[in-house]
Amino acid sequence: MSHATKPAGSLADVQRPQLARIPALIILAYAAAVYLFFLAVLGYAAGFFAGLGVPKGIDQGTRAAVPVAVPIDLLLLLLFTVQHTVMARPWFKRRWTRIVPEPAERASFVLAASLLLALLFWLWRPVWPIVWRLSGPGAGALWALYAAGWAIGVGSTFLVSHFDLFGLRQAWLHARHIRYSPPPFTERGLYGRIRHPLMAGFVVVFWSAPTMTAGHLLLAATATGYILAGIAFEEHDLIQSLGETYAAYQARVPALIPRPRKNDRKAGMKNSTVITLAAGPAQAEGRTEACGRAGMFAPSGPRAAMTSAAGLGTDRRLIDVREGTPLVLRDGSAVLIRQVRSTDAPLLADGFARLSAASRQMRFLGVKKQLSAAELRYFTDVDHHDHEALGALDRAGGHGVGIARYVRDADDPQAAEIAVTIVDDWQGRGLGTELLARLSDRARREGIRRFTALADANNVAVAALLRNAGAHLVRRGRGTVEYEITLTREPERNEVRISRSTAQTAPATAARQ
Ligand SMILES: CC(C)(COP(=O)(O)OP(=O)(O)OC[C@H]1O[C@@H](n2cnc3c(N)ncnc32)[C@H](O)[C@@H]1OP(=O)(O)O)[C@@H](O)C(=O)NCCC(=O)NCCS
Repeated sequence: MSHATKPAGSLADVQRPQLARIPALIILAYAAAVYLFFLAVLGYAAGFFAGLGVPKGIDQGTRAAVPVAVPIDLLLLLLFTVQHTVMARPWFKRRWTRIVPEPAERASFVLAASLLLALLFWLWRPVWPIVWRLSGPGAGALWALYAAGWAIGVGSTFLVSHFDLFGLRQAWLHARHIRYSPPPFTERGLYGRIRHPLMAGFVVVFWSAPTMTAGHLLLAATATGYILAGIAFEEHDLIQSLGETYAAYQARVPALIPRPRKNDRKAGMKNSTVITLAAGPAQAEGRTEACGRAGMFAPSGPRAAMTSAAGLGTDRRLIDVREGTPLVLRDGSAVLIRQVRSTDAPLLADGFARLSAASRQMRFLGVKKQLSAAELRYFTDVDHHDHEALGALDRAGGHGVGIARYVRDADDPQAAEIAVTIVDDWQGRGLGTELLARLSDRARREGIRRFTALADANNVAVAALLRNAGAHLVRRGRGTVEYEITLTREPERNEVRISRSTAQTAPATAARQ
């Protein structure tokens, strides 16, 4: 258990791009320039679709025969959609960041999209005839809708993190030597009503034309089709990685067209959250922070963003895991199990100091006298998605007595390496089993389907612990063995089995003591 679950040379290093040495200020200047260019292109787009205030609108410019104009326009749209679809996929990002520094990845996506949009505006060929033309109040209503579409689309970027979506935040954090973490975004505002307000806004923009020519219709229909397909692609990725967290959000919140709120008002409910019993535990009462974003405005790390959403939401189970749940072990001792926080470094250092040399050897597969400041930071400053850590605190003394973590495999997002450590005088009480069960639950929710564990070949305790969790031995190395656990899709099944055999949950009142 030492590959990914040790700090130095771990996940971050594996993912570090070759050109990451480019000075941070240059990356920041690049991201800022891209952002300004993007703003100019976006501003032009508002005029282009309206056919107002720009040198060339969608129905202006060089006329060409329909058989020439339509293929040119379709090709321009295709270029944009291919760029968008490919560059937003996780597999592409993994390869791309071997060439481009990670903090510039998002800005590069925005640059490519903006350049292709500018190309489209430049080379677009108008196509006649007019399909419909409204005047008077009808035209006024469509202009109002057009403006509303822009307001919804652009406004929703601020509900998430505008500067993260367009690549500036990543470069800014990098320049300030702050590790990137996806912005926690809430299901507030429109994201509580529809999953893709930004896309919905643009669909409205494309169709709200008082004068609709065949060329404009071609663009509106193609772009709408792409948005629907893009949402399907994006959500496929999100379901793969987040499992039921995203499925619950999907079940509860429609994609583009909000449901009427009539029933909520009738029931006196203040917000839009609806509790559907069939949707499972991720969808408990209250508001869950969650959001899926597709296409041009997809964040650079949608999975991570979703996870931080999952980790910070007000879903009851998520609150429990963050704040802690009390547990009475089989010998009667009481612990509180909760997610590790960035402020836990002193607790961890204290716990490590109380580990025997043998336990340290088993955990780190080598002699380990102390944890450095960087290691303490790595072990406690976790993102709760690619890296999760659950700690157990002795309820009597407040000491840290056990910790379990997983670190997602950089090459296989559905796999993660785990490590479990229990302070010596707390071993053998069922705590390792309990922490592993809860870690498995968290991992499933973050889209992990398989745990791997590297252990000392003589570590009989971990062998028993993992065997009980369904592990099988997959490899033998020099003095080490590697185990693998396939995580079942129904967390409750394992929890029941484990909590019956090893521990019992403390009464609810204990939580308040
Ligand atoms: C491995 C470790 C995490 C197990 O945690 P724990 O809280 O002691 O485990 P549990 O009490 O839940 O017991 C789990 C199983 O391990 C067995 N076990 C625990 N300690 C044991 C020991 N010293 N010798 C043999 N078996 C042992 C238990 O009997 C139980 O198996 P069973 O249900 O078949 O009886 C803990 O011993 C530890 O932290 N060791 C040092 C660090 C380490 O080796 N970490 C793992 C590698 S990263």
